[in-house]
Amino acid sequence: MTKRRLPKPSELREILRPKPFVLDPTERRLGRAHTIPDLRTIARLRTPRAVFDYTDGAAELEDSLRRARQAFRRVEFHPNVLRGVADVDTSTTVLGKRSALPFAFAPTGFTRVMHHEGERAVAHVAQREGIPVSLSTMGTTSIEDVAAAAPEARKWFQLYVWRDRGAGLDLMRRAHESGFDTLLLTVDTPVGGARMRDVRNGLTIPPTLTPRTFLDGAMHPAWWFNLLTTEPLQFASLSSWGGTVAELINHMFDPALNFDDLAWVRENWPGKLVVKGIQNADDARDVVKHGADAVLLSNHGGRQLDRAPTPLELLPPTLDAVNGDAEVWLDTGILSGGDIVAAIAQGATTCLVGRAYLYGLMAGGERGVQRCVDILRTEIVRTMQLLGVRTIDALRPSHATLR
Ligand SMILES: Cc1cc2nc3c(=O)[nH]c(=O)nc-3n(C[C@H](O)[C@H](O)[C@H](O)COP(=O)(O)O)c2cc1C
Repeated sequence: MTKRRLPKPSELREILRPKPFVLDPTERRLGRAHTIPDLRTIARLRTPRAVFDYTDGAAELEDSLRRARQAFRRVEFHPNVLRGVADVDTSTTVLGKRSALPFAFAPTGFTRVMHHEGERAVAHVAQREGIPVSLSTMGTTSIEDVAAAAPEARKWFQLYVWRDRGAGLDLMRRAHESGFDTLLLTVDTPVGGARMRDVRNGLTIPPTLTPRTFLDGAMHPAWWFNLLTTEPLQFASLSSWGGTVAELINHMFDPALNFDDLAWVRENWPGKLVVKGIQNADDARDVVKHGADAVLLSNHGGRQLDRAPTPLELLPPTLDAVNGDAEVWLDTGILSGGDIVAAIAQGATTCLVGRAYLYGLMAGGERGVQRCVDILRTEIVRTMQLLGVRTIDALRPSHATLR
């Protein structure tokens, strides 16, 4: 028989410690996010449906994105033990400069729609954390304003070469003059992908008030209040636009784009050049022959061609084809630090994250983006320690295989 007794008050006091109440609601919310999917859950509650769907969604049946995420789940890590991993160094060299972590913020269009702090918030965090930040041609903060917000951050500019080549030249000149050291030329957008959630939600730029969005506004008053009381939401590199996202993309993108245009960009951009949206090894080799310093294996976060190849699976053949003549980077589907470690082990020099930080931005502005980095860093460090690896350079393909 178990002998029972009454617990002493002092024993109860020991275990009954209510958590201190956090007054600041953003801090309180973010304190509950321990993973990137947690940030996504908060983001969904904080933003109108059309905004969340624009960020979260992908093209057609969204298989490109689903498969890319699934590939990371198929990774099997192979640890070594007794390797003395008390101190882990997560820094790495990307196109000749040190980055404190093996990832950068991907270029994303229309960022201020997710949270009014937008690109500036992302650039502040990049500066604080010592990682690169990319600004999209479709950004909602100008090149000069991002440079002023984070003068010390390493900044990259993403270019869409649109029909008006003069406008592209002007953007390249301004980015270079503002200290952006690398150009990401996006080439997977001859036309826009079919983002069905945007079509169904009737997403327009700027957002329009219909009876439905009005109702939604009642559920997200803080978002609408911030939208209406901060600087007007518009594309910083384009004159004003009053249509849907899909219409804008098809207006801007040039289906005639070809290798001569790549040569033209190479001639006109004095900094490092990365070609973004490479989806097979032969194209990787060809763009490197045209002067690319790095290729970014990416299917645009699944937002362009559906059922596209999975970047993680393209790494080995691409590394073979490029044969050390350029760096190979990767994005699409990254939702954890472990995903990043797996991609680096497979040979990527660095990774870009898109939605991961956008979920943070929607969940809590700059502090949410910071939370995203804190989560990813913690996961990267822990994965490296559990793998028995102290430096990024020591990661090998044998550490992370696909099953
Ligand atoms: C909301 C959103 C907007 C994007 N806008 C751009 C863009 O303007 N230019 C670009 O090259 N890529 C754009 N991308 C693609 C990202 O740069 C990146 O390739 C992608 O987000 C990586 O996938 P992930 O979101 O799963 O990390 C966008 C992605 C998202 C989610």
